[in-house]
Amino acid sequence: MDKNDKRDFPIAFFDSGVGGLTVYKEVKKLLPNEDYLYYGDTINMPYGEKTQEELINIARKIFDFFAEKHVKAVVMACNTTSAMTYETLKNDYDFKIYPIIQSVAKVMSKLPVERLGVFATPATINSHAYAREINKLNPSIKITEIACPAWVRIVEENRLNQPQSLLQIKERVNEMLPHMPEKIILGCTHYPYLTEILKQFYPEKDLIDPSKYFAQFIKDDLASNPNGTGSEHFYVSSNPQNFKDASKLFCELKELPELVKL
Ligand code: DGL
Repeated sequence: MDKNDKRDFPIAFFDSGVGGLTVYKEVKKLLPNEDYLYYGDTINMPYGEKTQEELINIARKIFDFFAEKHVKAVVMACNTTSAMTYETLKNDYDFKIYPIIQSVAKVMSKLPVERLGVFATPATINSHAYAREINKLNPSIKITEIACPAWVRIVEENRLNQPQSLLQIKERVNEMLPHMPEKIILGCTHYPYLTEILKQFYPEKDLIDPSKYFAQFIKDDLASNPNGTGSEHFYVSSNPQNFKDASKLFCELKELPELVKL
């Protein structure tokens, strides 16, 4: 079956937790009548501290799970797996696979700036995926990449309002400041949850959340479903209640997600 003949099948998302909901929310806004599945792999969070081999094994299990569910596309709503696993797995499945970094690089390369900052997980930063993909299209942008190891846990553990979290964020911001980027890419899908804190250091208009551009890319590429109902089903690999609590900023879940360990 051709990838475009599956238009009635659901669109699947995955991330290490609630981060991917920042992408899911934007896609749902543009494609409200599709049917959706979302896997939050909370037991393996944070992805950003795992090796490439570990991440490929994890991503393969999630893709296999979605293959059984007959999906038409899998959205890698996660920068880390896009950087570390997409190249290896991209031809192994008969559904479309959308990696966030590679899908938004073109738009990012056209930002009217000379200096760009990227905050992301250690794995994404060590891969230099953002700098590589953007500079391939526009070599004149100078890109400063800073790894932010603690930030994902702040979101997943619902610690947004704790003074210690502010300090951990400030440390990384201080590292970025001397490079004077004109705009900053939030290169981890968890980081838009931290916008209220980051706004204390940067004007909100200079913080780029790639998910809107990613959603537009998916909409333009995907064959839409004329019979969809807008249904959604969430799965997590641990602690459903925690996922429901942590997700609130971007998505109010009606029910607890289903627990599925892969
Ligand atoms: N939200 C994911 C990303 O965009 C993964 C973060 C993590 O678990 O380290 O990279």
